[in-house]
Amino acid sequence: MPTTSTAPNPLRAGPRLSRTPAPAVLVIFGGSGDLAARKLLPALYNLALQRVLPAAFAVVGAARAPLTDEAFRAQLHQDITTFSRTLPINEEVWESFAEHVHYVSTKDDAGYEALRETLERLDRDLGTHGNRLFYLATPPAAYEGIIGSIKAHRLAAAGGSARIVIEKPFGHDLASAIALSGALHEVFREDDIFRIDHYLGKETVQNILVLRFANSIFEPVWSRLYVDHIQITVAESIGVEERGEYYEHSGALRDIVQNHLLQLLALVAMEPPAAFDANAVRDEKVKVLRALRPLGDQLSDNVVRGQYGKGYIEGTAVGEYRGEDHVGAGSETETYVAIKCFVDNWRWEGTPFYLRTGKRLPKRATEIAIQFRVAPHQLFSREASAGLEPNALVLRIQPDEGISLKFGAKVPVQGIRIRSVNMDFVHGASFMVDAPDAYETLITDALRGDPTLFTRQDEVEQAWRFVDPIAAGWASSGADLPVYASGTWGPTEADLLIGRDGRAWRKP
Ligand code: BG6
Repeated sequence: MPTTSTAPNPLRAGPRLSRTPAPAVLVIFGGSGDLAARKLLPALYNLALQRVLPAAFAVVGAARAPLTDEAFRAQLHQDITTFSRTLPINEEVWESFAEHVHYVSTKDDAGYEALRETLERLDRDLGTHGNRLFYLATPPAAYEGIIGSIKAHRLAAAGGSARIVIEKPFGHDLASAIALSGALHEVFREDDIFRIDHYLGKETVQNILVLRFANSIFEPVWSRLYVDHIQITVAESIGVEERGEYYEHSGALRDIVQNHLLQLLALVAMEPPAAFDANAVRDEKVKVLRALRPLGDQLSDNVVRGQYGKGYIEGTAVGEYRGEDHVGAGSETETYVAIKCFVDNWRWEGTPFYLRTGKRLPKRATEIAIQFRVAPHQLFSREASAGLEPNALVLRIQPDEGISLKFGAKVPVQGIRIRSVNMDFVHGASFMVDAPDAYETLITDALRGDPTLFTRQDEVEQAWRFVDPIAAGWASSGADLPVYASGTWGPTEADLLIGRDGRAWRKP
């Protein structure tokens, strides 16, 4: 049952009209691929359902495979039926959406010329004024080739807006990220480059900023003076599934730490921005990343990695990482990382941030726990306080989205006995609507040209500056990669990492 006030729920009024973007054509490279099928097209269909898309709008799928418009649409109908967050499909909405979905095979120069002609025709027929949003949903290795072809075939020079969305990881390290930005800048302005980190589109991630900066009670205690330490966990119970080939090149460090985890850290640690606009918010985030103390010299004290072995997830036997498709028997790729780090600035000096991520952990849970210091003076006896833990504010990013505050309360018995209890805010119960998928939010923002929830060049580079020495240290150390059983919370070394400081990982 909802526990909060009965004030009218603004979400019930439907999406705000101001979010309707200008007419445009969205070109999805990798249009017949996995990301398009699972995330992008279901998100677009749901935007159509909510009437958030502009009246003049078309989607062009572009990929190497030869496909007709009809075959592409039939495939999408099936994908949306499988992956849409709202079901059953509203066939009327689907029909009118599908009329504006097209496909062009871009396997060679002739294909890119056909794409240009299709875009020009759509501009004429729909009145999309040469406004284009390109979306790179291909494997990263294809990015630079596609950007070169967009330039060579003048696809971004049609007189309207020309924007590009590019999936993470952005580059493989600092040098390749700089090179990729260089290639993009030959065609697009920095403000028109939307480096996506889908975590920033999650409602609960945006709510970190709201919690901190729309309320007055949290900010005064949000510092080393009151906070003992912060734990950020991105836990997944799934393995690498069919993505072994990609994952072998990325590992958990590049797949999650460099982007999702560091973004969460930046949002939790940043100073209040002067305004809620793209530059003010991102300026503050990048300052946090710059203040991260490099780990280079003390790698083994501060970083633990691991790889999943055989085990059980929810009672089902699962195999080891080295047995996954496209993964070698001797693979040294990490599927788990734990890091202890510090943000060297006035607010956080001396406050440890413990970050961890892993696949095949016991459950899927992303959360940020702000662990406060114990009360400075113990008024109640040690026996009375035996069940008392320090205050903690836990932001549950997913699933069970919400926030809970742990504090001590008197147990209703004679005399004083104290136990920790939780005060809970549950997203679903308070707002009674399904949150939009992150991709719905981010695609709309990119169509509107609002980069606030996307990663700026300096931000992405700063994240690589922190991560690169870790990858280099692992490559040169020759140390064994610990294996943890699937269905456990990672290697024991990770418990020691935090245990040495007299602390323990929370059980999400
Ligand atoms: C992606 C990673 O960015 O995020 C995947 O590449 C991971 O490996 C996924 O599974 C997790 O996303 P979410 O939204 O399910 O937390």
